[in-house]
Amino acid sequence: MLVLGIESSCDETGVALVSWSPELGQPVLHAQALHSQVELHGDYGGVVPELASRDHVHRLVPLVRQTLAQARMTPDQLHAVAYTRGPGLAGALLVGAGLSCALAYALQRPTMGIHHLEGHLLSPFLDTQPPSFPFVSLLVSGGHTQLMRVDGVGRYALLGETIDDAAGEAFDKSAKLMGLGYPGGPALAALSVSGDAAAFRLPRPLMHDATLDFSFAGLKTAVMTQWRKLGETVSAQDRANLAAGVQAAIVDVLVSKSLAALKREGLSRLVVAGGVSANLSLRSRLAAACESLGGRAYFPPAALCTDNGAMIAAAAVLRMAHGVESAQPDYRFDVRPRWPLAQAHEA
Ligand code: KG4
Ligand code: ZN
Repeated sequence: MLVLGIESSCDETGVALVSWSPELGQPVLHAQALHSQVELHGDYGGVVPELASRDHVHRLVPLVRQTLAQARMTPDQLHAVAYTRGPGLAGALLVGAGLSCALAYALQRPTMGIHHLEGHLLSPFLDTQPPSFPFVSLLVSGGHTQLMRVDGVGRYALLGETIDDAAGEAFDKSAKLMGLGYPGGPALAALSVSGDAAAFRLPRPLMHDATLDFSFAGLKTAVMTQWRKLGETVSAQDRANLAAGVQAAIVDVLVSKSLAALKREGLSRLVVAGGVSANLSLRSRLAAACESLGGRAYFPPAALCTDNGAMIAAAAVLRMAHGVESAQPDYRFDVRPRWPLAQAHEA
């Protein structure tokens, strides 16, 4: 079962080939190609939807060719074509969905529209030591922050989510304020290494409330106030300290809520996915927290933390292998820019 996966929901064009290994009982990545639009949007300080869609149009076909060549495979070996159906930017999603359905029609192969967050959620199954069900999942990306209970492929129950900004957004907005460019998460994390997280007192919103919800908008405001106080002559050390403070505040909240979710569900396995799961401080803190419960934290392979085609192909392969859904010879497509995961694949 060889699946071509296409991701185009935001500013990354991702293509990958994944198959199911009955021997290993997990998906196997054969090849992948990725084009990041970070430079394209850099001047604007954020993603410009129309530029994103146009760039996906240019990149997709060459990336599909490149991926097949890398795997030394031909299109007729494909069993299905999977693409991100949502959530994401409507125009960007349409490019991937359109190309996927056209290609599948030409090859007379079935298609499957995948929920972007299900892709992130299942991406740790591409690792050499995949988790087993059930587990709690912490999804932390530029657009989402969610805790979910996962009982199997397609069996996802939302435990809590952000009521305002996402964790990645908190990283990005703080970084932007501090002149660290876009997307600022990785830059802010790098700067944190030389900073003292205790130098500035920053809030940890909702950390001790009874719910498993998150809120990061207040943190951004606190960072803005601090940054203004430091003024134009801010020293390199203060800058690093503030970066470390922001990272620590976000990580503290994510760790605390993840632990609370594990305890509430009586589980000790945590799967962490989405772009922010690349953050090393978050990784080590969550790994230690899970160990303290006698469990383990699972992460996607480092290269698959941010958006990519492999997670989309893997989600399709897992849905088929677990008998949740089969790919359909249906070439009409629609996209779901807003699409709660709990409602995915209902209709
Ligand atoms: O999952 P993703 O690639 O795209 C969305 O679906 O949103 O996540 C991108 C987010 C951005 O906010 C980016 O700043 C953040 O992931 N990110 C990081 C790191 N690497 C990526 N945030 C903190 N530390 C990192 N090392
Ligand atoms: Zn994503």
